[in-house]
This record gives sequence, C-alpha cells and structure tokens, in this order.
Amino acid sequence: MSNWKLVTTLTDIPQLGSRVIKTATMNIAIFRNSEDRIFAMKDECPHKKGPLSQGIVHGTSVTCPLHNWRIDLASGEALGPDQGCTNTFPVKIENGQVFVQL
Ligand code: FES
Repeated sequence: MSNWKLVTTLTDIPQLGSRVIKTATMNIAIFRNSEDRIFAMKDECPHKKGPLSQGIVHGTSVTCPLHNWRIDLASGEALGPDQGCTNTFPVKIENGQVFVQL
C-alpha cells in the first residue's frame, strides 16, 4: 500500500539546500540539487547525528556541516573512506508538488 504524503512544493526548497519536515518519529530533510532533483532522508548524519539539512548539496551528495562527511543523497550511504548509512525515502514531484513515501 502506498503512503505518499504531500510535504512541500519544489519552489519552497532552496536549490542546493533543503527543507525539514517533522514527523511523529523523526525529522526528514528534503534536498534539492542543481538539476532540481529531489531527495529525502532522515535529517541525521550516520557519524554523530549532525543535521544534514544544514549541509551543502553538490551533485547527488550532501556534506555534513559538523565533520564534513559526504553522504550520497540517493542511498544514504557515507562516501569515501567513511562508513555509515542513514534512512532515505522515495520522493516524487507532481505539478510542482513534492510527495514523500513514508
Ligand atoms: S556528525 Fe556528520 S560528519 Fe560528524
């Protein structure tokens, strides 16, 4: 059963930035890259729980603002020598509206 939830609009997410959605159990960061691709992941770095939503988006990854780990936006996996993973969620855009599957 699909559980798509309307969370925001594309234009409300700053390019190369993010917008945070609060759920009952966690904060989810919705990222927008330079090509207007959208990604959703738990707003928590796999290293020491830094707020990934405050990181810089480049390409299809985000750099954590605390200790500069790079996290792949599609998989949630840490890149390079670092190891760890954070939860990601499917996203879709319809008529400029952004939906996340929770
Ligand atoms: S908490 Fe993200 S790199 Fe350390």
